[in-house]
Amino acid sequence: MNTVVAVVGGTGTLGAPVVRTLVAKGATVRMLSRNATDVPAGAEHHRVDLTSGEGLAAALAGVDAVVDAANSTKGAEEVLVAGTRRLLEAEKSAGVGHHLAISIIGIDQVPMKYYRVKLAQEEAIEGGAVPWSILRASQFHQLLEMAFSAASRFGVRPTGAAKVQPIDPVIVAARLADAALAAPAGRLPDIAGPQVETLSELSRAWAAARGKRRLPLRIPSWGKMGKALAAGALCDPAARTTGETFEEWLGRA
Ligand SMILES: NC(=O)c1ccc[n+]([C@@H]2O[C@H](COP(=O)([O-])OP(=O)(O)OC[C@H]3O[C@@H](n4cnc5c(N)ncnc54)[C@H](OP(=O)(O)O)[C@@H]3O)[C@@H](O)[C@H]2O)c1
Repeated sequence: MNTVVAVVGGTGTLGAPVVRTLVAKGATVRMLSRNATDVPAGAEHHRVDLTSGEGLAAALAGVDAVVDAANSTKGAEEVLVAGTRRLLEAEKSAGVGHHLAISIIGIDQVPMKYYRVKLAQEEAIEGGAVPWSILRASQFHQLLEMAFSAASRFGVRPTGAAKVQPIDPVIVAARLADAALAAPAGRLPDIAGPQVETLSELSRAWAAARGKRRLPLRIPSWGKMGKALAAGALCDPAARTTGETFEEWLGRA
């Protein structure tokens, strides 16, 4: 039987490779987002807005599984928590049998506003009426690139003992695509990059690869957040995968 999968946020850093992987696996794939950019052959785009629920009922008719790879850093609560509730309601009405979401390793240990929102998103899914799976991943290479290049515009290079285990979202997408074509399984085993590195090591690699000499700016490991980051709360060495390290990815991207 051909599985119909809707990928919410299917144009994003993670969503786009999820769409490509599912198309390659022979699924019928719908990309759901507010704006259509590159729609790959084999997928179709449906315009939806999680902040209003607009378009969801039509986009989910006949769908077997939903992969939610939407994101928003501004107004995160509205998209990730209230938006998840709207999405789950629409899934229930459409008879969707599997809601699969992506979360982040360590969100229950690191006191950051965005992570509190991600935890609330997980709780909405776990308490919702649609059978679910949740995959927690470590930080994507693109997120570090973005953070270092933003700091670089202020003439600095962040350093410190915080530990990160960056991963290529294409590897995460492959795991999500497999999970979307399988039965709902609750919390899935974490997925993380091949190497745990400190902020100092990662930013040094970024500066060398991008040819940017910047003033090192030490981010202290004080307080609950700093201590948790230095203790490796965002990492899961047992969940390491064999994809590219940040340095290898920098050499290619
Ligand atoms: N980035 C990381 O390092 C990382 C690590 C682990 C887990 N995650 C999780 O992975 C997920 C995806 O992150 P990402 O970095 O791939 O995001 P992203 O590149 O920012 O993509 C966000 C996607 O969401 C869509 N979107 C935003 N607002 C929407 C709305 N109101 N209605 C419908 N669609 C909307 C966007 O399309 P439009 O703007 O066109 O609507 C886009 O397709 C998030 O849940 C994030 O927490 C991220």
